Amino acid sequence: MATPAASAAEELSKLTIDAKWVSSAPNLKKNLHLLSPQQVSLAKMLLETDQTHLFQHWPEPGTDDGEKRAFFDQISRLNDSYPGGLITYIKTARELLADSKAGKNPFDGFTPSVPSGEVLKFGDDNFVQYELNGIKEAKDAAFVLVAGGLGERLGYNGIKVALPRETTTGTCFLQHYIDSILALQDASCSLVEGGCQRKIPLAIMTSDDTHERTLELLEKNYYFGMTASQVKLLKQEKVACLDDNDARLALDPKNKYSIQTKPHGHGDVHSLLYSSGLLNEWRDAGLKWVLFFQDTNGLLFQAIPASLGVSAAKQYDVNSLAVPRKAKEAIGGITKLTHSDGRTMVINVEYNQLDPLLRATGYPDGDVNSETGYSPFPGNINQLILAVGPYLEELKKTGGSIKEFVNPKYKDSTKTSFKSSTRLECMMQDYPKTLPPTARVGFTVMDIWLAYAPVKNNPEDAAKVPKGNPYHSATSGEMAIYRASSLILRKAGVKIDDPITEVFNGQEVEVWPRITWKPKWGVSFTDITSKIKGNNSISQKSTLVINGSKVVLEDLSLNGTLVINSNDVAEVKVGGVVENKGWTLEKVDYKDTSAPEEIRIRGFKINRIEQLEKTN
Ligand code: UTP
Repeated sequence: MATPAASAAEELSKLTIDAKWVSSAPNLKKNLHLLSPQQVSLAKMLLETDQTHLFQHWPEPGTDDGEKRAFFDQISRLNDSYPGGLITYIKTARELLADSKAGKNPFDGFTPSVPSGEVLKFGDDNFVQYELNGIKEAKDAAFVLVAGGLGERLGYNGIKVALPRETTTGTCFLQHYIDSILALQDASCSLVEGGCQRKIPLAIMTSDDTHERTLELLEKNYYFGMTASQVKLLKQEKVACLDDNDARLALDPKNKYSIQTKPHGHGDVHSLLYSSGLLNEWRDAGLKWVLFFQDTNGLLFQAIPASLGVSAAKQYDVNSLAVPRKAKEAIGGITKLTHSDGRTMVINVEYNQLDPLLRATGYPDGDVNSETGYSPFPGNINQLILAVGPYLEELKKTGGSIKEFVNPKYKDSTKTSFKSSTRLECMMQDYPKTLPPTARVGFTVMDIWLAYAPVKNNPEDAAKVPKGNPYHSATSGEMAIYRASSLILRKAGVKIDDPITEVFNGQEVEVWPRITWKPKWGVSFTDITSKIKGNNSISQKSTLVINGSKVVLEDLSLNGTLVINSNDVAEVKVGGVVENKGWTLEKVDYKDTSAPEEIRIRGFKINRIEQLEKTN
């Protein structure tokens, strides 16, 4: 067997015989003997893909030797973490950069039409039926939270899942998600004769930017009640940045022995689920569904059971959760695309592509509202439900790689150079692009107030959002929780006062009574209505917190703050007149650095003046 040194020499001699390499990278050549055989092969690959610029500044051996080796450690990681390695990455990048320069329309040859799907209204009979079926299915589901994003638009210093979903209780997004999954687990298992032992798995995709802090948050809080083995963290790797249309890898401006890297997008989740073996494990355990969701949508779980019910009833391989969308609204539309060669796919088409695509294919008015007052193309909220079997079969073919795109910011109209380095990206919702036409791909439309209120924008940007468009800020995200709880209770028969309008951090929002409950109190609308009895009323200035599962509101008249804490065994009836000074919202300016960041970004804090707290 050849010794490492011998094989390095072999690799070296193979490399040096080729005069082209010798002349193209003289500084590398001088340093080759510092490298291991694997590193020499990687060097060869870089030269073959015209990356000689990476070595131009390399000094003589003896200077920065450790850094030179570390450079190749990074190259090795970048090579291993990308399906097909860096050669494939660079080749794809060149193709996509050429298409982008040529202004090629990715939808050339496709005609859009409205795909089939289900439109649900909260509380209607079919919503209720789907919800009950969805709860039955939930024990056979796995959840996947994509939480590797930088959150640059929000600009919060911590990880987004650690932010309070609402500040009345201070429960963070991650805790709320876990509470919701555990509530579904209990509700679903209780429908099985004799109960069931299923622990619904949760996978969380993290990145270098979020991994450590996500793990710390989980560990510090004992996984918020899940067993540690129920939660799996999958870390996505970043990808190499590109300096120009030839896909020359970009060196980090702060370290010339390092390639600059950036996130590859949430589309990585598919290859990670596949390569980690997790998807196989889930299939072998008899699971039927995988539900994908994002880091800061505090409403989503209210839409999960009914959507899962739709997936099961319609046997959807892919079900995209959607909301009604006004024509031309800045949110992607779920669209069926049919190619002149017969290919079809049901995917998200970005709003700025949908309108021109319609105009170019025989709809002179483009994207317009139908008689419902909304565009016939529903708005994608990027929460997906996939059927495990077909999903795994597809990933066996593709390895989970998702069609990528590149979005270079060009310096000028010649499109020859970039303002800053770019990289390839991929999106989770592009998964259906490779599916065969036989795949069952549909959508479920839910009321927006019930299902979607992400926290993505910082206060300054949110305040600039044109009137009538959603702020998607910490302020609007929290207010959306109170509005949804109020509207749900209204539908269940509780008399709830109308909201008032207030401005926080320059954003005008509706302020409803601050009503919030633990997910286990109300897994479904049926569950909630069974806990509302007699005549209940809640005034606008009120706060109601329900921490318990068997709490029944009966003839309650609330004008102030009521906090109910109870264990999960005892049935607690709450009624009568509750009147106190309650909790008020005090404005906080986002520039006021004396306030904690999670408070500043919403523009108010809660003043706990007086409350009635009942614990049993
Ligand atoms: P966003 O669109 O909110 O992007 O991602 P972001 O990167 O978090 O925030 P900006 O664009 O920098 O402001 C939608 C979801 O996808 C996850 C995010 O964590 C969020 O849940 N995501 C995004 C990843 O998991 N990985 C990525 O590479 C990008």
